[in-house]
Amino acid sequence: MPETLIVLDFGSQYSQLIPRRLRDVQVYAELLPWDTPESEVMSLDPEGFVLSGGPNSVYEPDAPGLPEYVLASGLPILGICYGMQVLVQALEGRVKPAGKREYGPAKLNVVETSVLLRPEDDLQVWMSHGDRIEEPPDGFKVLARTDNSPIAVLGDHVRGYYGLQFHPEVDHTPIGQQVFRRFAYEVCGCQGDWTAESIIDQAVADVRDQVGDARVLSAVSGGVDSSVATALVQKAVGDQLTAVFVDTGLMRHNERLWVERAFRDSLGENLITIDAAETFFTNLAGVIAPEDKRRVIGETFIRLFEQTAHGLGAPPFLVQGTIYPDVIESRAPERNHAQRIKTHHNVGGLPEKMDFDLVEPLRYLFKDEVRLVGETLGLPPELVWRQPFPGPGLAVRCLSAVTRDRIEKLRQADSIFTAELADAGLLRFRIDTAGVASGTAQAFAVLLPVKAVGVMGDQRTYEEVIALRAVTTADFMTADWARLPFDVLARVANRIVNEVKGVNRVVYDITSKPPGTIEWE
Ligand code: XMP
Repeated sequence: MPETLIVLDFGSQYSQLIPRRLRDVQVYAELLPWDTPESEVMSLDPEGFVLSGGPNSVYEPDAPGLPEYVLASGLPILGICYGMQVLVQALEGRVKPAGKREYGPAKLNVVETSVLLRPEDDLQVWMSHGDRIEEPPDGFKVLARTDNSPIAVLGDHVRGYYGLQFHPEVDHTPIGQQVFRRFAYEVCGCQGDWTAESIIDQAVADVRDQVGDARVLSAVSGGVDSSVATALVQKAVGDQLTAVFVDTGLMRHNERLWVERAFRDSLGENLITIDAAETFFTNLAGVIAPEDKRRVIGETFIRLFEQTAHGLGAPPFLVQGTIYPDVIESRAPERNHAQRIKTHHNVGGLPEKMDFDLVEPLRYLFKDEVRLVGETLGLPPELVWRQPFPGPGLAVRCLSAVTRDRIEKLRQADSIFTAELADAGLLRFRIDTAGVASGTAQAFAVLLPVKAVGVMGDQRTYEEVIALRAVTTADFMTADWARLPFDVLARVANRIVNEVKGVNRVVYDITSKPPGTIEWE
């Protein structure tokens, strides 16, 4: 069990960032709802607590408060924004509405050097609060203030209790990472044992424990999560694992090659590739509506997968690439996407009627940790760093009729687009410490169901149109269109009309989400 910090979630939109920041400094942290039962929290044997921000005011009736066991544990506590206010209230200090809401950047003024903050630090921070501390509890000192918050940071060094009015977890607070590191290492006494190697060791031990000498089945789709989950389980139980890759014929260029290259050596005969393109194209004939496509693809996939599983004597365990944000989202329904805009049927997902126990080795990992583990396990970088790809594959990017011919056109155009972006260093997505985004989070081609007139040489042409879609986003809930350099767009358009037979025009999609979605169907 790694050293663990518990982040109690009071409902801030930034809560998920807190465990991520802590893990960035090699300390394992779990995000749990503030009212999680004591036994569940304390069974993780934590080294300390972090209390997140939240939308409430502590003096409202029914506002979430600090559970008693947190103080009784005697462990260090870091309260952030609302988390600081509940801590102060629980210790009988006073919280009041601020005269003025403080939102945005502010500059800290260090009143007293402490384990968390020093005068020479970069003291630019991000604020977002309506209430403020009026009177610190006994034993606390004011450590920093801002123009609008006379008590912006306070602490009780003896008990290891600290409160921050600002948000250290957001990119706009450059010192944030350092503050988490200092709290974890210097206040809680952590050593930093959360590394790719320790994650792998732990996962391997857990999988062995869970499955014993039973057989395990896995569906690899070419995506990052299913690939890393499969590689981890393979490391844990070796020959007991069989991985199934269903080639739907709706995959990106080289997808099959990469999956085979990644797994053939380690799995040998235990990698089963099912060439099912014919079945998928037959079942998709005449299917036009996007949701119908998803349903047909999902059903076809499940049927094939079931047949294969039965052929293998129905192994009792199935590997799932569930990752930590899925777990957090399913625990906090109020923060879920309220409306389901598209059915996100995950091809490679669980056949509902089958009787499997799930093996979920990525259940407590964030996406960046999954990639790190994948790299450490030796998976090819082009697989580990791939952008997300919808389960139904190219079918939902081939607008209207899905035929072999049209999918092939789309695949070629898509491959040209992504290759040019990769060459220009734009296929990865980054957000720097100032919050500026670069590259693309998702970029792909879409084949439109219209024909356009063009001229090539002396010939009039009447052919199909490719739309290019490239977005920047951290969470895929909202997105902006990527401001790609004109020369890159020009090169892509030129190559597509010259190299892809049957396409004579390329357009660039400049719609944000909302009101658009990232995919076109
Ligand atoms: P939208 O188009 O809803 O997409 O803005 C948001 C993210 O979800 C992906 N997506 C899917 N993923 N099955 C999936 O596994 C699907 O049917 C599906 N539809 C959209 C999309 O690629 C983007 O990353």
